[in-house]
Amino acid sequence: MIVATTVDEVRRTVRAWKREGLTVGLVPTMGYLHEGHASLVDAAVAACDRVVASDFVNPTQFGPGEDLESYPRDFDHDCALLEEHGCSMVFHPSVDEMYPDGGGKTDTYVEILNDMPKQLCGKTRPIHFRGVCTVVSKLFNIVTPDKAFFGQKDAQQLAVIRKMVRDMSYGIEIVGCPIVREEDGLAKSSRNTYLSDEEREAALVLSKAVFLGQKLVEDGETDATKIVAAMTDLIQAEPLARIDYVEAVDGLTMAPVTTVEPPVLFAMAVYIGTTRLIDNFLVEA
Ligand code: PAF
Repeated sequence: MIVATTVDEVRRTVRAWKREGLTVGLVPTMGYLHEGHASLVDAAVAACDRVVASDFVNPTQFGPGEDLESYPRDFDHDCALLEEHGCSMVFHPSVDEMYPDGGGKTDTYVEILNDMPKQLCGKTRPIHFRGVCTVVSKLFNIVTPDKAFFGQKDAQQLAVIRKMVRDMSYGIEIVGCPIVREEDGLAKSSRNTYLSDEEREAALVLSKAVFLGQKLVEDGETDATKIVAAMTDLIQAEPLARIDYVEAVDGLTMAPVTTVEPPVLFAMAVYIGTTRLIDNFLVEA
């Protein structure tokens, strides 16, 4: 596996692959990789001739007081996992390589101006999706992939990126991949590492709420408000949990909905102690 730290090196390598007629898949990550990321690499390897994973903790998507500094990092472990799963190149740039003005800042952003990035996570993380769109847009320009792979766990991010790709006419296929869970249901996340043993147990309340919501939909409940209320009650019964939001939204626009008319996304963000975790399920047609 090639380890590239500069934009030039990535460009030269990808150009050579394309001259050979090879297709390229991109898996954007912030590192500290787990089986969820591995499943994205597996999907990319199955669909593309060459796979590039980016490993970069992107400062522009973190707000003041968020966990930019403490975000977990383990590049050696990441390389081992990526290599094992057949990744062709990892792009691990410095902050200055990605943001040449210095200090992890930029004067140029890619931003969706409608309400989509203001819903759900955007209510408490107002600059988050502007930072995500900007860095993903830069990665698209650097890697020029045919396809890019994102996890359904970050459902709002996936919807925002699909919209950005459409609006900006990127000729890139966006592939959404299913949530990967621990055996007991907890969705895999790099932030799970922040949890104490007691919090890890309490965090199961998120997946329990997802499974309850799915069961209510399967049983024929069409009132999204009732489903959200049942999920909320379940989470509130856990003393270590503090709800940021539990909501039902349109699966494409992220606008709030009150009935289960697919596609509907039931999404939540919940603090377990000081760790903010997200989970969701999508009801499709
Ligand atoms: O999902 C993530 O890990 C990040 O938001 C992404 C897409 C790699 C952009 O920094």
